[in-house]
Amino acid sequence: MELIDTHAHLTFDELEGDIDGVLDRSRAAGVTAWVTVGTDIGQAKRVLALASGHENMYAAIGVHPHYAKDISDDELAAIKEYAGGEKVVAIGETGLDYHYEFSDRERQKEVFTAQLEIAAELDLPVIIHCREAFDDMIAILDRFKDALKGAVIHCYSGNAAEAEQYLGMGFHISFTGIVTFKNSVDVQEAAKIVPLDRMMVETDCPYISPVPVRNKRPCEPAFLVHTANKIAELKGIDPEEFARAVTATSRRFFDLPSN
Ligand code: NI
Repeated sequence: MELIDTHAHLTFDELEGDIDGVLDRSRAAGVTAWVTVGTDIGQAKRVLALASGHENMYAAIGVHPHYAKDISDDELAAIKEYAGGEKVVAIGETGLDYHYEFSDRERQKEVFTAQLEIAAELDLPVIIHCREAFDDMIAILDRFKDALKGAVIHCYSGNAAEAEQYLGMGFHISFTGIVTFKNSVDVQEAAKIVPLDRMMVETDCPYISPVPVRNKRPCEPAFLVHTANKIAELKGIDPEEFARAVTATSRRFFDLPSN
């Protein structure tokens, strides 16, 4: 089995501090490539450095909506420079988070829109975080959908009807360990209807360890196998076939070389 962890925060201290162990355990589990994702301007340099030092590791550069309030317009311009770096395969994560609302909504929208413009200009796909902001998200993405190379709604937490809308706009949907939780009925229903050529899987580590390792901290890429197997079971298909299909989708989406 071969899987790609399409969204991991490998530069967060709890993972980077043991990066060789983390990657060894990942490879042993069949998770053989990673997209390491930045969340703010300080992370951007670390993401580039870590990816450049590891084979089959790729970088995403962006500002998480939590940190929209902290970023200046000069720093947003710097995001564009970092995004031109070697091994950068996406802009992100970026988006809207009205659940925590650590940054005010207007600033979140400005910083998100600026990053969509960068993605369109650099012809890079976008990794999107959306929490309790569906209506504003759809309105903004509708303006950009033709200009963007692609977009993935990461750590999907919506229902099947919302997933249908994203699919109808041409976007991809990515699932974390949330889909393995017993009470995640809506997310499981969404996983059933997203076709394999529009689906990816991710850990979002160090967060969200999947069942049956839900109590293990930190989450790490090796645990991705549990999420993949759960979705294969929900869809009633062979886990190997599922892994092959979502890996092909991930390579296509991020334009990764084959191993
Ligand atoms: Ni994330």
